Amino acid sequence: MRPFDGRRILLGVSGGIASYKSGWLARLLSQAGAQVDVVMTRSAMEFVGPITFEALTGRPVHCEMFEVGQALDHIRLAREAEAIVIAPATADLMARAAQGQAGDLLTACLLATGSTANGAPPVLFVPAMNDRMWAHLQTQRNASRLRELGYRLLEPEIGMLAAGEGSGPGRMPEPETILAHVGRMLDRPDLRDRKVVVTAGPTREPLDPVRYLSNRSSGKMGTAVAAAAWRRGANVTLVAGPLEIAAPTGVTVVAVESTEQMRDAVARALPDADVLVMAAAPADFRAAAPAPSKIKKSTAPTMTFSNTADILRETAPHRRRGAVIAGFALETDDAVASGRAKLASKDLDLVIVNDASEAGAGMSVDTNRVTILTRGGETEELPLMLKTELADIILDRIGALLRER
Ligand code: CTP
Repeated sequence: MRPFDGRRILLGVSGGIASYKSGWLARLLSQAGAQVDVVMTRSAMEFVGPITFEALTGRPVHCEMFEVGQALDHIRLAREAEAIVIAPATADLMARAAQGQAGDLLTACLLATGSTANGAPPVLFVPAMNDRMWAHLQTQRNASRLRELGYRLLEPEIGMLAAGEGSGPGRMPEPETILAHVGRMLDRPDLRDRKVVVTAGPTREPLDPVRYLSNRSSGKMGTAVAAAAWRRGANVTLVAGPLEIAAPTGVTVVAVESTEQMRDAVARALPDADVLVMAAAPADFRAAAPAPSKIKKSTAPTMTFSNTADILRETAPHRRRGAVIAGFALETDDAVASGRAKLASKDLDLVIVNDASEAGAGMSVDTNRVTILTRGGETEELPLMLKTELADIILDRIGALLRER
């Protein structure tokens, strides 16, 4: 199952140089399972040809309002779309849309979808233009007007602009970022405005100035939970040790290195949080006295270790009333019984147990096979699945607990 299977998305492309990136966006949307109908303005066709989009989406591309045999296309396209994304949205397109003009197929489609206030499909504008055009009061007024009308607008990024114009705000965000925002538009917003804290990845404890003790955690499970929570409308803080993968779009990242730093970051965030998902694998031991200078290999060192802070145990008592806390348990023997013991001793609402000795489960890999245990005594065994799929199931269970409270 792909994230956008069966979803119908209208991709509007207006005439800016960033339209060369829209081809990649069309491809990403199609690969995610969406049926993508591309509507291009005439000026967009000066930059990219419709054949490019046709090849990437496998569907006819719509360009003209008055084409024999395609009259009233705008009504049909507007009726069928579940979401509209306009990328790039030029200053001119924004101005026309803000005024409610409908002189070409794309703006006509926008009007024909109806008002978002009356349940029309969500619309995302992705402005991209020269930095001075973006900063102009006219454009800023148009941007505000579009927001008032219920449209979403992605802030342009700061970066190199076309035509040797240096760098400034005006650059279109990368297609992967836009894709994540389309996901947020389409997903059920059941965690809207909830504050969700997720930890991910390993931590590192120094042995000397260049060496450290750590583990094989990649951060894939935690980042999948953070991405899914954001997509479902939450405000997400990701407390991240050194990750193997990029942090997801939309989340606020607090980067930490040691278990103590992770404990402090969680302790700061938890009192305001509705949810804590402790998916990190903090290092459990640290050198009692890290060497102040690099240990020579000729010394064959012996070191004494002590335990690091148990983050859940220390911070869980400071949760706000009604907050849901989920922990993970990575076990090699008697996984479910050990998981239950952890649930009780750490005062958790949910424990996701996985058996570290099982193939395709646990650290580093993209999949996991877990059993979810709840404070209420339920035991839910799940089949092997992608961590991205598991993230949504964990959030379904958390969402149900939040609604009960
Ligand atoms: N955890 C934590 N602080 C640590 C280590 C782990 O809060 N210093 C959290 C993990 O993020 C996970 C849960 O505790 O959600 C269980 O981690 P696990 O390593 O399986 O268990 P431990 O409690 O460390 O116990 P043991 O090593 O005895 O199995």
